[in-house]
Parts: sequence; structure tokens; C-alpha cells
Amino acid sequence: MKKMSVYILGGSGYGGGELLRLLSQHPNVETIHAVSRKHAGEPFWKVHPNLRRVVDGVFEAEPDWAAFAQAEHPMMFSAMPHFELARQLLKLEDAWAKHSLSERLALIDLSGDFRLDSAEVFARAYGKPHPYPQALGSFVYGLPEWQKEKIKGARCIASPGCFATAIQLALLPLAGLKDLGFIAVSAATGSSGAGATPSETTHHPTRANDFRAYKVLSHQHEAEITRLLDTEKTSGYSVAFVPHSAPLVRGIFATVQLRPPAALGLNAKTLRKRYEDFYRDAPFVRLVEDTPRVAAVAGSNFCDIAVQEKDGNVVIMAALDNLVKGMAGQAIQNMNIALGFEETAGLCFAGAYPA
Ligand SMILES: NC(=O)c1ccc[n+]([C@@H]2O[C@H](COP(=O)([O-])OP(=O)(O)OC[C@H]3O[C@@H](n4cnc5c(N)ncnc54)[C@H](OP(=O)(O)O)[C@@H]3O)[C@@H](O)[C@H]2O)c1
Repeated sequence: MKKMSVYILGGSGYGGGELLRLLSQHPNVETIHAVSRKHAGEPFWKVHPNLRRVVDGVFEAEPDWAAFAQAEHPMMFSAMPHFELARQLLKLEDAWAKHSLSERLALIDLSGDFRLDSAEVFARAYGKPHPYPQALGSFVYGLPEWQKEKIKGARCIASPGCFATAIQLALLPLAGLKDLGFIAVSAATGSSGAGATPSETTHHPTRANDFRAYKVLSHQHEAEITRLLDTEKTSGYSVAFVPHSAPLVRGIFATVQLRPPAALGLNAKTLRKRYEDFYRDAPFVRLVEDTPRVAAVAGSNFCDIAVQEKDGNVVIMAALDNLVKGMAGQAIQNMNIALGFEETAGLCFAGAYPA
């Protein structure tokens, strides 16, 4: 059986912790190394206490390229903040070339650096120019339910954003339709979406009993959502996305509302059938009745979706764990598809309920 040797850049963050947790149980993973500048030399469990006696190892200040080059199947995940992989990629490519890793290494990025192909769209979405625009377009966008065929065999994959995953999965079965009109998207996220470094917006006393919108009509994930719709030649639509921060730690709950033209025949029955048919072979999308629940997906790689219609008004709701299907789990799903493993390998488990 093919066994991977994995390096994680940004191993001390929430994404790094989830990668360590999930990859340690993966049947095709042999060794895991993780990099952290602040915690170099410390055992993983010092930062991720849930991993004590489950995942052995210490954080490294930087990858040991010579040792990594000995691996038969080298695999790298980058879970660093936005802009970092793009800033470091030239230097990394140099190191890979020196150690004969360039042709053999598979790379999956969890950040937004390579999700978009156009420097102009990136700068508009992220408010700053891309640090390495020449490399844009060299990563495959890793939303398995959309373009699994492109992910197969890909060497560089950009895993989608957490909001973008929930909202794209809610909309994907409608992509390509004409005249969908105004699409109102409202989505709430837990505080872990902002990463491990504390900030005013993630500090418990200012967040625990609050509910607010942020980046109204200007969230960077909107560019991923409209790119999918445009690629699928959806026409006559506009999206207004309002993100909210909810008093949760893990989880995203997205509500998508639209009033499609009657000519499309999207009533409660046809919509349900459309979503069932579309996601029949998608192992991590579950269609539920009434409403999805964050507590039912937390800790797992599932995205639960419910579709409702009344008097021509359509509501699609999606819930997922931002750290799993919205991040580390989906990155591993991408690894599985890219390298020809079972798509569900290492990911087929329920979350903890109640969350
Ligand atoms: N949180 C989510 O729900 C979520 C969902 C989807 C995607 N993402 C994206 O995934 C990435 C990781 O997110 P996260 O929530 O895990 O972030 P995080 O908790 O803030 O962790 C960031 C990691 O990167 C390292 N790091 C920070 N600055 C660095 C630098 N200049 N050079 C090298 N390493 C650096 C940090 O460790 P040291 O400082 O010790 O080196 C830490 O291990 C981000 O790009 C994020 O946008 C996050």
C-alpha cells in the first residue's frame, strides 16, 4: 500500500492541529512532521492538548529537506495565514529543486493564496496585490463535489475557503441555470474561523454573547462562489453575501435564498430530486429534512444540506465544520482523490454529538 510522508507548514494553528489529528488516523500516512516557528522543539500536544498520547512528535523550526527527500511519497500541506505560502513559494521551490523533490512532491494549500486564478480578482478580493502572481493558475481548485476529475493526479491543490465550501455546495446543483435572479446569502461562522491568534473579534467576552455581521458584501470568499457560477455559465444572477460571526467555536451555517423564475420548475419536489441526484455519489454531502445542524456535523467532514420551497421562494441551508469540511478534512479528501486513495480514507467518522 502506498504510504505518504507528510510535512505540515503552520502546524501549530487550528488547521495544523486538525491535520495532525486526522492524518494520524489515515491508513495511507506513514510519518507526519509539522513546522512551527514559535513552538519549535515542543511536542505537538503542548499546543494541541487533544493529541497527547495520540500523535507523537515535536514541532520543527523548518523542514528537514534532506530527510524529507528520502521519502518515497512526499506530501506537504500548508496551513499558514493568507499571503505566506505565496511569499515563500519561490524559496520553497528552490529547496525542492535542490533536493530532487520538485517532480515528486504533492502540495495542498489551505489558505486563499492560490484559489483564484486572476491577479486582478485576487487583489480585489483580498485588498492587496498577490505576492507571486506568476504562480496563479498553477493550483487546481479543490472542491471535490465540483471538479473531482481535475483534482485526480493534481500536484498542487488550493483547498477552498470555509464559507465558500458551504455556500458553493448549497448552490452547486443550481449552477448553470439561467435567470436565477437575486441570490441572498447569509452565513454565520464560529470563532475558530479566525485562527489561533487571539483578536478583539475572537476574544471570549466580546464574542460569546454577541451576533454580528462583518465584511458585509465584501468578503473574499464571494469571488470563489461567483467564479464557480460563472464557470458553469450561470447567467442572470447576482449574489449578495453577508457573513456573520456567531457565538460558536466550530461551525458554519449558510442560508441561501432566491426566487427563481417559474419557467425553471423548481418546486419543493423537483428541487429535492435535483439535489439528491446531484449529490448521489458525494460521500460527504448529506441531504437532511427541515434544517441542517452545526452540532450534527461538528468534528466531521460532512456538509449537511436542506432545501425548501414555498410559493416560489427557495431556501437552501448548509452546515459544516469550518475546521474539517471547511478546511483540514477537505484538504485530506483532496489528497485522497489526487493520489488515488479511497476518497473517504481517514475521514469516515461521525462528529461528537452533542458538539
Ligand atoms: N480557521 C478556519 O476555519 C479556516 C478555514 C479554511 C481555511 N483557513 C485558512 O487556513 C490557513 C490556516 O488557518 P488557521 O486557522 O489554522 O490559522 P492559525 O490558527 O492562525 O495558524 C497559522 C499557522 O501558521 C504559522 N505562521 C503564522 N505566520 C507565519 C509565517 N509568517 N511563516 C510561517 N508560518 C507562519 C503559525 O505558527 P508559528 O507562528 O508558530 O510558525 C500557525 O501554525 C489560513 O490561511 C486560513 O485562512 C482557515
